[in-house]
Amino acid sequence: MPNFSVAADRGRAALLASLSTAVGAEQMVAPEATAKYDVDWTGDHSGRALAVVRPRDVDQVAAVVRWCREHRVPLVPQGGNTGLVAGATPSEDGGEVVVSLELMKAIRQIDALNGVAIVEAGCVLDDFKAAVSKVGAFFPLSIGSQGTCQIGGAISTNAGGINVVRYGMARSFVMGLEVVLPDGQILRDLRGLHKNNTGYDLKQLFIGAEGTLGIITAAALKIQPSLSRVETMFVATASVPETIALFHRMRQDAGDLITAFELMLSTSVRRVCATEEGVYDPFSTAYPAYAIVEMSSCGGPPLRAWLETYLAGLMEEGLLLDGVIAQSSAQAANIWRLREGIVESQARLGAYLRTDVSTPISAVAEFIARGTDLVEALVPAAQVHPYGHVGDGNLHFNVIRPEAMTPESFKPQIKRIEEALFELVDDLGGSISAEHGIGVAKRAAFQRRVGDVPRDLMLKLKKVFDPDNIMNPGRILCER
Ligand code: FAD
Ligand code: LAC
Ligand code: ZN
Repeated sequence: MPNFSVAADRGRAALLASLSTAVGAEQMVAPEATAKYDVDWTGDHSGRALAVVRPRDVDQVAAVVRWCREHRVPLVPQGGNTGLVAGATPSEDGGEVVVSLELMKAIRQIDALNGVAIVEAGCVLDDFKAAVSKVGAFFPLSIGSQGTCQIGGAISTNAGGINVVRYGMARSFVMGLEVVLPDGQILRDLRGLHKNNTGYDLKQLFIGAEGTLGIITAAALKIQPSLSRVETMFVATASVPETIALFHRMRQDAGDLITAFELMLSTSVRRVCATEEGVYDPFSTAYPAYAIVEMSSCGGPPLRAWLETYLAGLMEEGLLLDGVIAQSSAQAANIWRLREGIVESQARLGAYLRTDVSTPISAVAEFIARGTDLVEALVPAAQVHPYGHVGDGNLHFNVIRPEAMTPESFKPQIKRIEEALFELVDDLGGSISAEHGIGVAKRAAFQRRVGDVPRDLMLKLKKVFDPDNIMNPGRILCER
């Protein structure tokens, strides 16, 4: 037995020495410092990397990929490691090389006239947004993890977030990509053209591919003129169906002025105000349902006066029970903290069910009503927190344990509840993953639903790009 392990260690050491020669010793993370690359943001998923490599440029990325292909060693592209489906976490067998993009973070160009910025994949989303705003422009992709997640990770998951209702998901900002393919070749198009209908639009294949078809090393991204007026509102309604009716009404009355429309329920507001320091409910009365609505414009007439009259009219009609418009950036920040606090607050009770589902917008209320009933039937007194991007039909219908139940007894219930909710999603013609992707965590549920024709096409595509199955194997569809 001991001899085997010595032999295995020797084999591993030789492999790592060869990788170090191929990519450069400075690019290898010291073995004692690799732990943080082994665990995802939630702490729910972890593995063990064979090695962690941090290339500095596209040629070094290509060198690692060529080495992996030659030695038949699988690799995992890793950005900020904030993905919620375990797509960037190395496997438990210790056989995968993590390729971290964190050193490739340069913003090469920001061009407000052409409405394009060229940025390397490892740039943190918040840093990119801040740099863009310095030249009087705006990059709308807004997600709770933007202080840590990277541009390459956001593109690879086709991230959504709070501004999709006006601007679309990450895909809608991508004008061009630089990608290292699984055979080490580099596909380059960073021209940043607004229009280009020449042949197949290959970049689309890498967006949302979760690192299974290539490593994105840089992107040409569409930027917008800065917003000059942003109004943040917190409004209360009598029920979820009324909130959906409010969304429909506001879309008709205000169209693309709406940049965010997020639902949350009374239980979530109460919980966040109780657990998150400094966060307060702007109303003195509790209401059944709430929406955070953001309207904004770039130029044009002031919005505030119109909005005050508009909200007053909706209250007179009875569609709104109450409403406030933030009068300062501190008040606006508090309204958004009510929303972000849900994510932090629910984690405080230990393991919980996190979902990311979508249905037609018209079915959101039914999903919440039926979902709440079935959770109550499965685990009475479990706390249900449905919230999220209902303007896109996208809900995070999360469930935390009853206070009287231990985390250990709740854990086995999580899968049962998830499967029941996924069946409800199927029944309503929805999707089990609206914006977080499939990774490893949702692979089994996805496989059961994908259908023969799409599965066959996806597997064929994967084979064309990655015949040796070295590029993030086992994520989305294929077995490792
Ligand atoms: P990682 O987690 O490192 O990787 C994600 C996937 O992309 C993996 O499969 C990985 O292999 C691959 N990948 C990473 N970089 C590259 C690259 N350069 N080339 C090829 N493949 C690559 N998502 C939303 O859509 N909307 C939200 O509102 C939202 N809010 C969030 C809030 C919080 C608090 C957290 C923790 C996550 C949230 N997310 C949200 C999840 C979202 O998927 C990630 O935050 C983000 O998109 C992933 O970026 P990352 O750099 O951390 O990628
Ligand atoms: C959110 C993440 C979890 O919207 O997608 O809070
Ligand atoms: Zn979300």
